Amino acid sequence: MIRILVNDGIDASGKKMMEDAGFFVSTDKITQDDLMTKLNAFDAICVRSATTVRKELIDACPNLKVIARGGVGLDNIDVEYAKSKGIIVINTPAASSRSVAELVFAHLLSLSRFLHDANRNMPKSGSTDFGKLKSSYAKGGELEGKTLGVIGMGRIGQEAMRIGIGMGMNVIAHDPFMDVVVLNVGSQQFPHTANIKSSTKEEVLSSSDFITLHIPSLAKPAIGSEEFAMMKDGVIIANAARGGVIDETALLEALNSGKVGGAGLDVFENEPTPRAELLVHPKISLTPHIGASTEEAQLKVGTDLAKQVIAALS
Ligand code: 3PG
Repeated sequence: MIRILVNDGIDASGKKMMEDAGFFVSTDKITQDDLMTKLNAFDAICVRSATTVRKELIDACPNLKVIARGGVGLDNIDVEYAKSKGIIVINTPAASSRSVAELVFAHLLSLSRFLHDANRNMPKSGSTDFGKLKSSYAKGGELEGKTLGVIGMGRIGQEAMRIGIGMGMNVIAHDPFMDVVVLNVGSQQFPHTANIKSSTKEEVLSSSDFITLHIPSLAKPAIGSEEFAMMKDGVIIANAARGGVIDETALLEALNSGKVGGAGLDVFENEPTPRAELLVHPKISLTPHIGASTEEAQLKVGTDLAKQVIAALS
């Protein structure tokens, strides 16, 4: 019987699909260290971002046929090495785009109205501080009419553009590998498309009131002190891509100098232990890497993954 290890959880319907296909599915978590001796008893492993599948583990598991990543980022898997050993590597790039893009807007809206800070500071019981807090959060801003700069014009970037257009923002974008995207920005009732051309990175950085990043982490952060210097004063920036995309030291400097008005962070250089200065900063809205964690996205990720695993092993 084909044996699948689901090590970072999966939606119940995805598990059921694989069981209905006749596979044995274990969802009992095996620690990263124990995988070296225990994973070889399985034909496939399904992971999210918590479990890493590196060369050493692949070498220790000659029986492994499939590595399946529920989600977009494959940075926790040695993909090329796995492929060179004949292992099929799967991910679900389309399943969580909306979920991530909506979280970005949750951060942008929160930062524009100081919700993240107000939630920290609201009086815990009836108190006279209410009026003082009301005045301190009275200078919020609106998103409508502002410029949204999207760096990375892939699936998640495109969802962010669609939401931005829906909110009445001027949307500009940059992608080194794409010239233009055609977006369906209407509804069933009012179908409508919009073409967004790729502008230069400098143009996007210098013209945007809000910036959101949808690119993988490379050797050098895409946003560091040089890039912050190009931005408008008071810009609000969101990162729900990968921690290394923003240089966190440069971000803290830019927040403290007032150059950046606020940052929404779902991902961090050091996960799962982000640096303390970020966690307590009044201008940072925080979430613990939950971009893909909605009921809808979990369902789509789980069923999409199960379909691909079944096809690969049947
Ligand atoms: C992804 O790459 O899909 C996201 O970062 C989500 O990560 P997660 O699977 O750990 O929620």
